[in-house]
Amino acid sequence: MCGITACVGGDDAVGGLLTGLGNLEYRGYDSAGIAVPDDRGLNVVKREGRLDRLREALGTDRPTGTIGIGHTRWSTHGPPTDANAHPHQDCTGHVAVVHNGIIDNYETLRRDLEGRGHRFESETDTEVVPHLIEEELTAGKSTEAAFRAAVQQLSGSYAIACLVDGEDEVYAARQGSPLVLGEADGRYFLASDVPAFREFTDRVVYLEDGDIVVVGEEGYDITDLSGVPLARDVDTVDWEPEAAGKSGYPHFMLKEIHEQPESLRQTIHGRIETLAGKVSLEEFDAGAFEDVERVQFVSMGTSHHASMYAAAQLTARGMTANAYMAGEYADCPAPIDEHTLVVAVTQSGETADTMNAVRRARDAGARTLAVTNVVGSSVTRECDESLFIRAGPEIGVAATKTFSSQVVALTLLGERIAEDSTGVQRAAVRSLLEGLADLPGDVQQVLDESNAEGIADALYGCDSYFFLGRGPAHSVALEGALKFKEISYEHAEGFAASELKHGPLALVTENTPVFGVITGEDDLKVISNLKEVQARGAPVIVVAPASFESEVEFADYHLPIPESHPEVAGILANVQLQLVSYHAADQLGRPIDKPRNLAKSVTVE
Ligand code: F6R
Repeated sequence: MCGITACVGGDDAVGGLLTGLGNLEYRGYDSAGIAVPDDRGLNVVKREGRLDRLREALGTDRPTGTIGIGHTRWSTHGPPTDANAHPHQDCTGHVAVVHNGIIDNYETLRRDLEGRGHRFESETDTEVVPHLIEEELTAGKSTEAAFRAAVQQLSGSYAIACLVDGEDEVYAARQGSPLVLGEADGRYFLASDVPAFREFTDRVVYLEDGDIVVVGEEGYDITDLSGVPLARDVDTVDWEPEAAGKSGYPHFMLKEIHEQPESLRQTIHGRIETLAGKVSLEEFDAGAFEDVERVQFVSMGTSHHASMYAAAQLTARGMTANAYMAGEYADCPAPIDEHTLVVAVTQSGETADTMNAVRRARDAGARTLAVTNVVGSSVTRECDESLFIRAGPEIGVAATKTFSSQVVALTLLGERIAEDSTGVQRAAVRSLLEGLADLPGDVQQVLDESNAEGIADALYGCDSYFFLGRGPAHSVALEGALKFKEISYEHAEGFAASELKHGPLALVTENTPVFGVITGEDDLKVISNLKEVQARGAPVIVVAPASFESEVEFADYHLPIPESHPEVAGILANVQLQLVSYHAADQLGRPIDKPRNLAKSVTVE
């Protein structure tokens, strides 16, 4: 995810930048850096690790300049190192750039620049930007024209801020990654998010895609890429600085639920070609999975539910695929051999049970692949290969946005595995990829229109809560129940819908609400199960596409989701269930971000 910030005016740019970076650490914290020009020249200080390492490196003899740019990193290209930390510079050392997002065409740009004699210091995609600006400056352009010309060569997503030694302005551009401008008295800020500067001002301009902004001590100009002036409103934020880390949300969990449109955009960015109906995962060569005969997912908790979702998809594509709870993997039956792909799914990359399963698989000769959110985590070091879900840091103990990103990343991976090992590109893949491309917008619609809070208010405090689903929706039901129990402390259980009559039905009373997950036509069978529990007095809540309104009319409550591909609909249904759990736990006054007895990263067996 990464966070950028810039500060113009006032008498202490370094102080403003460090405050901003501290408040943006939720966007990334594996390295941080700043660039501040003063009478000694352009000071660029950057360190791998938490912000304190940067503070230490700055020491007491800090740069004294009044403008600067800063960055806090969550690695996507290249491991966390001093060299890969931002800001990045050109060959002359006069241009410094910070960036959040992904530059899709960086490899071509870098090759061309190297061919023209540019030397690169890092493995990042960002580093092409200062070199492109340098070329335009050398060609005689003004800094603003050089910045514009460089940005026009980029494809991908970016929020970029740049400064040039000896000048008093910061130049910034936004395309597909967030960028906001803060206006204080005599001081201006740019950042990926308002918390970076909320303690200095509540006046904010939300920049839009395609905007270029030049900020100086006297003010700022916003234009489009070709230089046409644009007017943008100044808004006033209505939350206090103390809420900064949570961007005004009462809990990290709610904030992270609301971040899903952005995190999902990052997950799919550059990985789907809807027109060609193709998945492009640059991590794997063409035909990389040709020899795979079976896929075994190993994971725990929420990651296990994402794995179950993926295993159901792969099975439907004719592959042999199983999701194992990593802690139980020692009892997994043979064969595990070189034709077995073991996919370790873990957002933290540190879960002990999952790591042990990876070691067992490796010892048995399997090929191992990590699907994780954390670059440089233990699982990436122990597996043969890695695929990053790019959800950004998750602070709330209950996993939310990482589940959605895991499911999407695994869906893409599954499509590639099935394609390589069967040698056939499915015709149906195009509609799935269209569904994935629409997913961030669809999640936004769920977040904007959800009636989950009202339902949670009506139903919290019952004896037990049950969640039913079939196929991939079974994993959503299990995830719904896990989220509900871990943050509300109420008893909740998920079942395969078919299991109900074989025991759990005995628990159903008028005080046990039952949630049913319906993602498409195939799931309509769940309705008969739900009618059975309703006949026993249980309140029934159906999560289903809005178009199924008449089919689910019998239910006491309907949590609608937008029309989407059935394989994507489970993610939308899960967002509704995340909100139900959150609001129920909030009504009960639970410590939502830190539920008792639980930890974000479980590094013991
Ligand atoms: C539930 C939750 C846990 C984790 C599990 C695995 O909200 O967060 O169940 O999913 O401990 O963690 P990772 O994904 O880090 O391996």
